[in-house]
This record gives sequence, C-alpha cells and structure tokens, in this order.
Amino acid sequence: MAFRDGFLWGGATAANQFEGAWNVDGKGISVSDLCTNGSLTSPKRITSEIETGTLYPSHEAVDFYHHYEEDIALMAEMGYKCFRLSINWTRIFPTGMEREPNEKGLAFYDKVFDCCRRYDMEPLVTISHYEMPYALVEKYNGWASRECIGYFEHYCEVIFERYQDKVKYWLTFNEINSGMQQMGNILSTSTVKGYSGTVFDFPDDPQTRFQAMHHQFVASAKVVLYAHEHYPDFKMGNMVCCIVSYPYTCKPEDILEAQHQMQYMNWYCSDVQCKGEYPFYAKRIWKENGVSLHMEPGDLETLKKGTVDFYTFSYYSSNCVGAGETAEQGAGNIVGGLRNPYIQVSDWGWGIDASGLRYSLNEIYDRYHLPMMVVENGLGAHDTVEADGRIRDDYRIDYLRQHIEQMKLAVEEDGVDLIGYTPWGCIDLVSASTGEMAKRYGFVYVDKFDDGTGDLSRRRKDSFYWYKKVIKTNGEAL
Ligand code: BG6
Repeated sequence: MAFRDGFLWGGATAANQFEGAWNVDGKGISVSDLCTNGSLTSPKRITSEIETGTLYPSHEAVDFYHHYEEDIALMAEMGYKCFRLSINWTRIFPTGMEREPNEKGLAFYDKVFDCCRRYDMEPLVTISHYEMPYALVEKYNGWASRECIGYFEHYCEVIFERYQDKVKYWLTFNEINSGMQQMGNILSTSTVKGYSGTVFDFPDDPQTRFQAMHHQFVASAKVVLYAHEHYPDFKMGNMVCCIVSYPYTCKPEDILEAQHQMQYMNWYCSDVQCKGEYPFYAKRIWKENGVSLHMEPGDLETLKKGTVDFYTFSYYSSNCVGAGETAEQGAGNIVGGLRNPYIQVSDWGWGIDASGLRYSLNEIYDRYHLPMMVVENGLGAHDTVEADGRIRDDYRIDYLRQHIEQMKLAVEEDGVDLIGYTPWGCIDLVSASTGEMAKRYGFVYVDKFDDGTGDLSRRRKDSFYWYKKVIKTNGEAL
C-alpha cells in the first residue's frame, strides 16, 4: 500500500467559517465576525462595527456549534481518522486580553474533542485560523504590535493545559504566508488593521506587514518551544498556503521570476518555521520592499529553538509568472498570476493541477525533510440537489481522485513522508475569500444559502460514499 498504516485521512474546517454562534456563551467579536458576505464579482467588506441589516456569514455559518455531534458522526461514518478544526480564540478569551478564560468556551471544545475521541478520531487543531479578537486589532493594531505575542502565549498555555489529554497535533497559524501578499486575507487573517483593501482601504505598507509577520513567527516559535518543554507528546506543526508558480515560458527571466516568487510566497515563511532562521534571500526581499525589520534581543534564538515537528500546507491550484504579455490573468488561493493554458480552471477561476501537488510534496520534503500533511485541498463548486435528493458531485470526486493519485506517486515513487490528508470544508461551510455559501467543498451538503436562508439540514453527497471507500481501502480504491 502506498499510504502508511494509520494514515490520517480526514477533513478540515475553521471555526469562523463553520461554527456560527458568534456571540453565544460569552464569545467575543473576532475579525472574521466583521466580514460581510460577498461573491466572486462583489467582494466581501470588512466593517469596523456590526452594521444592522448587513449579512455576516460567520455569525451563523453552518452552526457546527449546535450540530457538532451530528457532524462528527457523519465524519465517523466516512471513516475519518482525523478532524482538522480551529479553536476560536474569542470563545476562550473574548477580547484576547483577559487573564481568566471563558469557561463556557473551553467546555464547548471539551465536548467536541470528547466526541472525536469516542470515534477514535484524532483532532488536529489550528490555534489561529483567521479569527483574532477584534479588541486586539482596535487596541494594538493586531500583530503589528509585539503585545500580541504575550496574549497569544497565554491563550496557548491555557488551551494546552486544558486539552493536553485530548489533542496531540497542533498548528500555530493558518496560512501564515498570506501576510506576504499585499491584499491577502490579511485583516481576516488576523494580522493588522487596515489591510483589507475594502473598508479601511489603507494603502499597503510592507513595513507593517513584514513586522507583523515577524511577531507571528516569534509567537509561533515561543509556543512550539513551550509545548516541547511541557508536553513532550505534542506534535507542533506550521501551516503554509502552498503557492505553486510555474515559469510562463522557458525564457531565463521567467525561470528566475518563478524562483523568486516561490521563495517569496512559500520558503520565506517555511524556512523561519522549519529551519529556525530567515533565509539568505530575505535581505533581498526586505530591500525590494523597503522593509527594515525590528527584532528584539533573543528573537533569533527563539526562532532557532522553536522549529516545528511537521509541515502542513494547503494546496488547491497553481499559476504562472513571467512575461506572457498576452497571457490571461488567473485566479487562485491568495495570489493570482498568469493563467496556465495547459490546465482547466474551477468555476472560481482557480487552476486545477493535480501534478502540482506531487511537485509541491517533493519540493517541500526536499527542503525540510519533515513529515508532511496536506491539510487543505479541494474543489469549490456549485452543487445542486436534484429532484431525487441526490447531489451528483462527480467533478469533486474527479478533482480529489486526481490529487490523491498524485499524493500516492509522491509517496510510492518519490519517497516523501506523508502522514495525512484532510480535504477542505468536508462539510459545506462559508468561503474565506468571497464570504459566500455558493462555493461548496463538502462531502456533506448543508442547506444554507447566500441570503442567509436554509434549515441547516445535512445531506450526503455522492462524494461522501466515494471518500468513505477511499478511506476504507487506505487510498487503494479511487
Ligand atoms: C484557505 C483557507 O486559504 O483556503 C481556508 O485556509 C479557505 O480558510 C480555503 O476557506 C478555501 O478558500 P475559499 O476562499 O474558497 O474558501
């Protein structure tokens, strides 16, 4: 068999896109609670306060908060060995600045993890997935300030202590490299006020962006170190959005540009978290962006010591960079690029490139030699419930099949160390980039729509039965 025994088959979600119950049981407001809905053609907005009459998709999302038993039972029915979810920081610390945690928030995740354990499902927990307490953004401009490091450490100490017997696998920040991108999800990514490019509409300021990321790196390294010292059983991982940029042509300039783009978008962050130091070309990147990073004494040592145990990443698509004067612009996760004429694109314009996953697994393993996990992958698509009640999502099955085949080749033929696979949005949830429900990823359909209507009932798609078989055969029956 290609995949090892105990391979972590499962699915992935994030609290702000999945849980709802945004103001229930003492939860505070997070940055994502201020993101309105949107669509491919009409971008979501980020408001500085909750506007009456405006739809905020995180507020109800698909209400995992009140459906967790049903949802985890559905995952168990598919045979999940692992469930990736995030803890919503504002359930535990409503403003991020309290000393005492909110007991009701802690109790919710106790119930969720206990439920996973009942089904022998390993929780894989993202500590911060686009949902920083908004109070920290208002008071400190979020991660632009070093103050957030201490608050984040305290949050982690509390959840580590509380869940030490229930959770072993932890990821510090979701897609930490989204901060490399000017208009990335940076506000919703929990970084600093003003980088939404929508409501606050501030000009880009790379100095603040890079400094904020430095603070996140230090925060991540500190909690990895703390976990290693106090909980030797824990496995601490990073999470990077894998951006695959091919040269548009074999023109030497295009090759160089692709290399620089890969360094910029992927390896800058990964090197810090896996090798414990900024890469040699960081100086060039800072220079090109007019950045002068401020570091406190001890930061470099912290980064050196707080390296992760395993590498996790999201992979959806690939793009091209280079001259391609006549090339069409492409879309993708976090960054666009030039459209690759050799591949198809999804309804949202993201290039579908399964080989790019094998390529990425090889590139990453070659650089870091760490066990890897693909913690997001999938096809955002329109689904239709047909008259007979079925959802025939063959397009999703095709996408996932092709990607699993490539993972298989990477393991079997190339020899990379892959420990798990958790496709994105295993139960339909809100899209992060557009704030819509119409872009569905799940094996399970949720009756919830962009106008906020829907009875939230769950329904198995065709892909549900297919994935169940994949897991049962450890990836042999595709
Ligand atoms: C990743 C994020 O960027 O991609 C998820 O970690 C997100 O939060 C996913 O939902 C898919 O992107 P989108 O925009 O289609 O929801």
